[in-house]
Amino acid sequence: MALLNILRYPDARLHKVAAPVTVFDEGLKKLVRDMAETMYAAPGVGLAAMQVDVAKQVIVIDVSDRQDSLVVLVNPEIVEASGISDIEEGCLSVPGVYDVVERAERVKVRAYDQHGHPFTLEAQGLLSVCIQHEIDHLKGKVFVEYLSQLKQQRVRAKLAKQLRRTA
Ligand code: NI
Repeated sequence: MALLNILRYPDARLHKVAAPVTVFDEGLKKLVRDMAETMYAAPGVGLAAMQVDVAKQVIVIDVSDRQDSLVVLVNPEIVEASGISDIEEGCLSVPGVYDVVERAERVKVRAYDQHGHPFTLEAQGLLSVCIQHEIDHLKGKVFVEYLSQLKQQRVRAKLAKQLRRTA
């Protein structure tokens, strides 16, 4: 296993559109293992392949306290959404920034696991919000882009400052 490098907003590679997975091979299983390890080490509750510079429709999520409930979503598609949730979100690609984005409270997702088996998942609360956040990554969208222009300017300034400090 290996820890992968997480791209930081506003890296242009975060704005690509992910291609669907067509081959469920060893390479995909290794990507999923490495993404899970990278997410747990960060630590974070979700990671999309786009964030590790792989433009494929692959997501790992674990919102459990014990980090023992890994959810792998390949080629995910939201087929039902209802209600309104306003849980504060963060993102491993936008460290130190947390804000509320309006999301659906409940979603039903159709996806494949890393072995190519299709399944349907119904989620609410944090898991639902996390799924929507990660699916946005696959479309090239980062959560801060829902915020006001003023807030986005502040986010960019904050991240530029972080970069200068680590340079
Ligand atoms: Ni994110």
